[in-house]
Amino acid sequence: MHHCGLGRVLYLPPSVQTAGTKSVLYDFVENTASDESSWNKIQHLKEDFFSIEDQVAWERWLLSHHLSFLLWLLAIDELTLCELEAVDVPTRITRIERVGTYLNGYGAALTYARMITQEQYAQQIRPFMNQYYPGFSATWAEDYQILKRKIGIILRDDTLGRSVRASFRETVQEHIRTAQDLVPSGPSLLKEILAANSDSLPALGASHFAYDSLFLVRRCRVPKIALATQLSYRVAATARDVQSRPLPDHVDPKAATHLIIVLQRAAASAWAARTTSTSTSAATSVDT
Ligand code: HEM
Repeated sequence: MHHCGLGRVLYLPPSVQTAGTKSVLYDFVENTASDESSWNKIQHLKEDFFSIEDQVAWERWLLSHHLSFLLWLLAIDELTLCELEAVDVPTRITRIERVGTYLNGYGAALTYARMITQEQYAQQIRPFMNQYYPGFSATWAEDYQILKRKIGIILRDDTLGRSVRASFRETVQEHIRTAQDLVPSGPSLLKEILAANSDSLPALGASHFAYDSLFLVRRCRVPKIALATQLSYRVAATARDVQSRPLPDHVDPKAATHLIIVLQRAAASAWAARTTSTSTSAATSVDT
């Protein structure tokens, strides 16, 4: 018997448009000692809150997206701190390295997303998304659009950003590999991914809400430690799934083992970062 508990809801900070400026803020609250204790409780949730045995395809789809969302937010936070702070070069290098670690983690989440069969994607995932909201599109993921813009800024301003470009490009390739595995007869899908990538498509607030709600994302003010704890818990759930259940034929077992290592590295980085970046700012700003 497995629970479909609240452990499946992902808590992320809302983005807030500030009056009179084009700035967008991520509304974090400062970490407090009681946050440390209450968000740490998530670590003790059983990983089987993701009831993967019961609804394999959907749970893997949900989990791969939650991993991605957390890693995007963590990367955005480091990029924002690079923009805002006059920091010394070693600190800046550490921040940029973390961005690379989170982007690699996002690539691993995309690898995990292909651990469903082509039939499951065609018969369960795609129809559900299509029926959920007219014209449902992944370009409605607001955080990803913000991430792309931030990466553009770091590339423009800083030679250190070159490593970020390489990691980001690798995620685009991984996205394409995943789509090819799940929809091998869909060249139009590849074109759509590349087209989405080259445009910064504006979407309305209602579209962001539709995207969040399909993936069980609740926007509320959280401390930054919430990103690290929710990521650790989901990485543990992913490891448990990959190590204990059969994988579809198109999945290379070595890639499955590797993705867990990459995700664990990203989770460790998020833990290390929470002690340095959390005290720096209560909110992160994004220029639009
Ligand atoms: C962890 C799993 C995944 C995440 C987090 C994800 C996220 C995204 C995001 C954020 C975009 C917008 C890109 C941009 O604006 O530059 C996008 C586009 C797209 N993705 Fe994915 N994706 C995932 C897996 C997949 C898979 C498995 C497929 C196909 C089988 C796929 C097919 C597409 C397509 C066709 C687009 C173009 C825009 C659209 O029609 O929604 N994605 N995805």
